Amino acid sequence: MQNFEFYGPTRVVFGKDTIKELSRLIPRDRKVLMTYGGGSIKKNGVYDQVKKALEGYDLLEFGGIEPNPKYETLSKAVEIVKNEGVNFLLAVGGGSVLDGTKFIALASKYNGDDAYDAIMKRGEMPDSAVELADVITLPATGSEMNNGGVISRISTSEKLAFHHPDVFPKFSIIDPSVTFTLPVKQTINGIVDTFVHTMEFNCTYDVNSPLQDIWAMGILRTLISEAPKVLANPEDYDARANLFWCATCGLNYWISCGVPQDWSTHMIGHELTAFYGIDHGQSLAIVEPRLLRNQKVAKSQKLAKIAREVFGINEPVDLKAADMAIDKIEEFFNSIGMKTKLSDYGIDAEEAAEKIRTRFKERNVAFGEKGAITADVAYEIVKAC
Ligand code: NZQ
Ligand code: ZN
Repeated sequence: MQNFEFYGPTRVVFGKDTIKELSRLIPRDRKVLMTYGGGSIKKNGVYDQVKKALEGYDLLEFGGIEPNPKYETLSKAVEIVKNEGVNFLLAVGGGSVLDGTKFIALASKYNGDDAYDAIMKRGEMPDSAVELADVITLPATGSEMNNGGVISRISTSEKLAFHHPDVFPKFSIIDPSVTFTLPVKQTINGIVDTFVHTMEFNCTYDVNSPLQDIWAMGILRTLISEAPKVLANPEDYDARANLFWCATCGLNYWISCGVPQDWSTHMIGHELTAFYGIDHGQSLAIVEPRLLRNQKVAKSQKLAKIAREVFGINEPVDLKAADMAIDKIEEFFNSIGMKTKLSDYGIDAEEAAEKIRTRFKERNVAFGEKGAITADVAYEIVKAC
């Protein structure tokens, strides 16, 4: 096992009827800005629950944070925070609202001209961030228990990630019953995102970490068993709860303790979203099977373990088992209704591959647990998508 440091300061309040706990969790003297997305919370009653819990608070609102949150939109909220003296941010929505709010929390402490260039590109981080917490409504990103965010900029077709120790949510309220209203597409996106997060942490090379492997494969097995239940019955509370806890644990860094990490599927997927606007989960479902095939030899030990312990494949030869695992993963994505080819979205693979190669070359980057995913390798992977 490799050395590691784990820090997880977020209080998780999980279960039915937990939104009312907001009044216990946010100190009365805070000036709160509640942030939200395009209006789902007004349709499903979450907005009303939050307003009721925060009666008597000094409360402002900022709606309209879009999926793949845009710097251009978030900048307007930064102005409100600065002008109104807001000192507590409450994100109510999916990963996009929460990531956007993490950015608002940091950018509000930045005094220069272009917070996106500073924070996202030059890594010039403010020393602190405005305190933040969330009511998370979509199981996918794990943003509710981590210190990362992914922000897009319309003017440059960019989508980049940041991390900062002060944007761990102070608390996260997770009421799985608020996910009954998720569109099927978003439920599926979340399942795939969680699956791929777990793969990014687990499917690398063996460092003798049996406990982390069992945790990670437990998440994969739970996703496979619970996904059909929520698709058959969107109001199956227990299945929704299990999926949500999988999503949170998929990216709260618990399963990453002491193991190498990949993240190349995400890096390529972010570019597909930046260039073509496809959803995050959709981009991952396209890239993951092709990336695994490309890296099959380097990842064969872990893939074979996944074949045997997640999919019950009884094949003693690692490389053969690895092949079968990759097929099973793509089959699982397809079985829940997720498409796995660029052509399914009318995107030309050759064109996408060339754009991504050019971008990775300009940035001079290589991804993956061993840096094997160079611009040229990314080109081959996307071409095969
Ligand atoms: O905007 P509203 O109206 O709220 O509707 C949203 C949105 O249209 C809707 N929705 C959310 N909860 C709902 C609901 N509709 C009905 N009922 C509910 N309970 O779902 C749509 C998608 O929401 P979004 O927040 O965009 O989805 P998700 O949570 O999948 O977040 C995706 C973003 O997170 C980033 C992605 O790149 C993408 O930008 N990621 C963040 C990570 C992190 N912070 O650690 C890691 C991930 O790998 C990922 O990159
Ligand atoms: Zn993801």
